[in-house]
Formats: sequence, structure tokens, C-alpha cells
Amino acid sequence: MKAAIVKAYGSKVEVTDIAQPALLDDSLMIEVHATSVNPVDNLIRAGYLKGMLPLPMPYTVGNDVSGVVTQVGKDVVGFKVGDAVFARPHGMQSGTFAEYVVVKAVDAAHKPANLSHAEAASLPLVALTAWQALVNKGNLQSGQKVLIHAGSGGVGSVAIQIAKHLGATVATTTSSENVAMVRALGADTVIDYKSQKFEDLVHDYDLVFDTLGGATRERSYGVLKKGGQLGSIIAPADTSGTAEKLGVKSEVFFMWPSGAQLAQIGKLAEQGRIKPLIDKTFTLDHAQDAFDYSQSGRAKGKVVVTVK
Ligand SMILES: NC(=O)c1ccc[n+]([C@@H]2O[C@H](COP(=O)([O-])OP(=O)(O)OC[C@H]3O[C@@H](n4cnc5c(N)ncnc54)[C@H](OP(=O)(O)O)[C@@H]3O)[C@@H](O)[C@H]2O)c1
Repeated sequence: MKAAIVKAYGSKVEVTDIAQPALLDDSLMIEVHATSVNPVDNLIRAGYLKGMLPLPMPYTVGNDVSGVVTQVGKDVVGFKVGDAVFARPHGMQSGTFAEYVVVKAVDAAHKPANLSHAEAASLPLVALTAWQALVNKGNLQSGQKVLIHAGSGGVGSVAIQIAKHLGATVATTTSSENVAMVRALGADTVIDYKSQKFEDLVHDYDLVFDTLGGATRERSYGVLKKGGQLGSIIAPADTSGTAEKLGVKSEVFFMWPSGAQLAQIGKLAEQGRIKPLIDKTFTLDHAQDAFDYSQSGRAKGKVVVTVK
């Protein structure tokens, strides 16, 4: 089958023929229609995560899939051949930039019927991340206030929509070019980070969702009310002591695959509460171009790669 692989840390993505992965008893064989790029894909390729996620070389890239089930493992319930599904597969079970991928059934959910495969493939990793930051970690409640950094990015654009669905008031940071776009996603307060300081404009917030880290994280503690919390998806954890001094909480977490959460996200997509935001679409043959575009850090929403 055709797949986009990396032969050594730091080398470019190559599209070539490799053997189709073998079906496992707890898994689905999915014929991939579309996948998408996440910044972590470039980090993995560069070798930044080899300590926690050592990969056999060559490996097939990619962490999001939307496609159709062609085989079902003997222990699987709830899926059948022909089902359209989407998933963020576990670890590097097998990469999604390929004509077929093997995914644990517990990591998959039925694709929202109203979304194309390209749209569905744009959601799993970023929507699970946003869900887990706001619901599992942040316990965001109706009437609370949340600041979401980088509202125009893959994670931020879905996080705004989930936070609004939860009934929260949402402030977000972006550059002037994307102000109208994040407002259309539902943000109540939009802060142009190039000309405005968010810490001068929002106060007494319940939650900050930090997708940027560094100085932005450090400056964010001051917008929280006492007892408020900052959830970050940017390692390493903060050891500055500022959060403690201000009486707020700070945590870094890594998202985890979950078919059950993806099913809930899929329902929200079917109800029109989460609308995928796709910036650019590439074909599998141009996988490296898709990686380069993501690495520019300027994507508005997601970078999608169509396979079938
Ligand atoms: N820990 C985890 O489990 C986990 C999971 C998912 C993602 N992540 C990490 O989270 C980060 C965000 O992921 P993503 O998929 O959303 O990335 P992305 O789609 O590549 O983000 C690009 C967006 O970031 C915006 N941006 C850049 N600098 C900004 C700033 N200073 N203030 C506000 N917006 C800014 C850009 O908007 P402008 O062009 O307007 O600047 C652009 O729209 C990445 O570092 C990724 O590796 C971690």
C-alpha cells in the first residue's frame, strides 16, 4: 500500500509502497480516506519525543484518520465492515498517512454523517485535546469564563466551539488577520496579541487553556481569579512558582485517545455545534508540503491530507 514514511529522525517525509499492517483482534482495519497534520507530527519526525515515544524506523506518520472499516478484529463489538469511522489511534500503533491503518476499536467512533471524510479527519486529535482540557481537566461550567490562547489554531478553533457549547464566556488571542474568524467561531472577547496585552483586558477568569507555553503561560496566571486554573498542553511543566504565589493551579497534560469522547464530539458535529475549520488540503503525494505548511505555525484551523 502507499504510505508516507520517515526513515530517520530529522529526515523528510517520503511517499512509498509498504506492507499493509496486520489486523489485531481488538482492532479495525480502516481504508483511509483522509488524515490531517498536527504540530506533534513534526516534533516526532524531528526526534523531540524519542525519549517518551521511541519509534522503529522507518515509521508511517500521522495521528488522525477518517475512513471506512474493511476488516473487524474478532474481539471487536460495535463496528462492522463498511462503517465510516474516525479516530485518533493509540500511540504509534500504525500511522494514518497510508491507504490502510489498524486502529484499536476503543479509539474509534462512527463518523458524523454530515461531515466529509476530510472534515472528520480534521477533528480527532485537536477535538479530544480541547475536550479533555475543558471538560476533564478544566471542569468548565456554564457561566464560567475561559481564556483560550491561539483561537485560530487547530486546537483553539475547536476549543472555542466546545467552550461555547458548555455555556462559558470565551476570550481568545489571535492576530488581527484572524479576528473575524474566531469571532464567527463564537469567541465573546477577541484579543489581537500583536497590538493588545490580554492580561490588561481580561480578569477574574476561571480557566486558561494554554496552547502556547513560555512567556504567554507565565503572563496568563494573572488573569485567573484565586483558585482558578491553567491547563497547558505545552511541556515542560512550569516550575517558576508564580501560580502558587498567586493562588492558582497550573498543570500540563498530554491528550489521550478515546473513542467514547470522540462519539460525543461527533454528536456535537452532527448538531452543528462543532464545525471543522480547514485551512488547506493536500494529497498524500504532497505529505511533506502539508508538514511544512503546518510547521509554519500560521495555519487557520487544520491542514488536511486526502488519501482516497
Ligand atoms: N499536549 C498535547 O496533548 C497537545 C495536543 C495538541 C496540540 N499540542 C500542542 O499545542 C500547540 C497548538 O496546537 P495546534 O494544533 O492548535 O497548532 P497550530 O494549528 O499549528 O496553531 C497555529 C495557530 O497558532 C496561532 N498563534 C501562533 N502564535 C500565537 C500567539 N502568540 N498568540 C495567539 N495565537 C498564536 C496562529 O495564529 P496567528 O497566525 O494569528 O498568529 C495560528 O492560527 C502545538 O504546540 C501542539 O504541539 C499539544
